[in-house]
Amino acid sequence: MMIEGMENLTTSDIHQQMSHIFDVATGVGLPCTVQNCGDMIYRSTLDPELRRELKPLFTAQGAALLSTLFIFLSITPGALPGYVEYYVVQPIQDRMRKKYSLEDFTLGTKLGQGGFGVVYFATNNETGEPYVLKRADDYGEAEEWMNRRMQIAAWNACAPYVGSWQGEPSKPGAYPPLWLAWKYEGGRTLFEFMKEKDFPYNLEPYLFPDEESYPRTLAVGDPERTAATIRAIMSQCLDLLVQMHGTGIVHRDVKPENLIFDENTQRFKLIDFGGSADLRFGVNYVPKQFIFDPRYAAPEQYIMSTQTPEAPFPPIALALSPVLWQLNLPDRFDMYSLGIMYLQLCFKSLRTDAGVQKLRKDLTASNESLSAWRRANEAKIRDPEAWAILDANDQAGWEFARLLTKKIPRRRISAMTSKFDRFMLNRPSLLKKIDRLIPFPTGQEVNADGTLAYDSFGSWLLFRVARSGTDESGGFTEAQLREFEEDGNPENLEDAKQYLGMVASEELQKYGVSKAFRTISNKKTRKSSK
Ligand SMILES: Nc1ncnc2c1ncn2[C@@H]1O[C@H](COP(=O)(O)OP(=O)(O)OP(=O)(O)O)[C@@H](O)[C@H]1O
Ligand SMILES: [Mg+2]
Repeated sequence: MMIEGMENLTTSDIHQQMSHIFDVATGVGLPCTVQNCGDMIYRSTLDPELRRELKPLFTAQGAALLSTLFIFLSITPGALPGYVEYYVVQPIQDRMRKKYSLEDFTLGTKLGQGGFGVVYFATNNETGEPYVLKRADDYGEAEEWMNRRMQIAAWNACAPYVGSWQGEPSKPGAYPPLWLAWKYEGGRTLFEFMKEKDFPYNLEPYLFPDEESYPRTLAVGDPERTAATIRAIMSQCLDLLVQMHGTGIVHRDVKPENLIFDENTQRFKLIDFGGSADLRFGVNYVPKQFIFDPRYAAPEQYIMSTQTPEAPFPPIALALSPVLWQLNLPDRFDMYSLGIMYLQLCFKSLRTDAGVQKLRKDLTASNESLSAWRRANEAKIRDPEAWAILDANDQAGWEFARLLTKKIPRRRISAMTSKFDRFMLNRPSLLKKIDRLIPFPTGQEVNADGTLAYDSFGSWLLFRVARSGTDESGGFTEAQLREFEEDGNPENLEDAKQYLGMVASEELQKYGVSKAFRTISNKKTRKSSK
């Protein structure tokens, strides 16, 4: 077979034509594996990855970079979930939310009147259900924003928000107010419970429904019973703040009046977000004026450095939010307010307005030192139950109060860490654990009043600590004790041996520590032989 038109071509003509084609192909730049390159054989037999023409998709550096970015976007206040919330969830939720107006409700009694609006009880005309309506003359937009955010990211930490609408201006030319609506949660805030004479017992039926179990089996007046209720209230408040801070919102007005008790779930919830700041999106973090309650506001007043610029538009604000959060730790503002509230839960005299105002004045005068406040007021405040609650379990409650009210925000405890505090966990102190582990011979040293200075290993240890505080005089140094407390687990035999040996080498010899060690060893043998 012959191709048409080629019958007259000679072999040399065909070669000439072919070499033209190759010339053109060279210009186009085909790879060496196709072209007639000098090193064709050598290169094509080598694996492309080995000759570094192909890079693996995930290098170690790439993975490290990606995971750093992921961690950065996930840490508080959570920029990554913020993007999803802002661009996906919020628009869907806004579309689905029923649109209300004032005509849908019949207004009832006034529940509160703040500086920036009025709060009413209301009934839904269609369903007859109870609602709460707020006419916000100022900060309405901030409150609306926070409620929409909370409804998605921390819905069970706040009252169910149902929507908002613009109202009629009070007089022609005035700024129109914003109406906000929530489901009615119940008639009492923590403030109302605290005002009642039988506080904290009035909360027990809700917090501990079983009359036959702890702490309701303890006697009325037993500090441990009151402490259990205080712990339960604080635990709920911490849960609320963990959720709220986790989504990047700082409440800035935490106080008993703003904790509504939800009768359905029997839990407290946060209300009143007009002064809140959203650090995830940079909303309302530079307040126009002091809107905080001076009785509860942290000494730093501002949650963010005043140098912080106004937030840029959402995507940028989101990306920068973890840096701002870590630089300022704005959540610690709420922790201070919670600390003041905690002291009010303990001391009856601080539950009055005058009482808490005096506390704040005294604290300011003593450079915000709670220990100084105690030294000056311990004799004056005759509330044995409160002191007993704070001092129980080696001052676990007192230490917690100090951690919540530290002057410097960075030293103040966060909501998440508070959940694991010794007071909150009601964990026996280290000394009690040691007592259980090491039966100690009855103490020989006697106090001035003739009582034994110590009768257990734990109290001997305390005695040593109290008596000196330095190595030379027979006690322990602060550093030794800290190491013992932080690094040692007295429930672990090896640890106990190591740390007990470390803190009290010679002294323990005198008090029969080798016997104590034998006791531990025996215990271990008994355990392992089981
Ligand atoms: N969802 C709710 N369910 C029941 N009661 C509520 C609810 N929201 C608010 N209240 C009641 O209304 C009061 C005032 O609400 P809120 O704290 O939001 O407003 P406010 O502007 O701070 O007013 P005030 O200064 O009087 O506290 C609360 O103390 C509480 O008693
Ligand atoms: Mg309020």
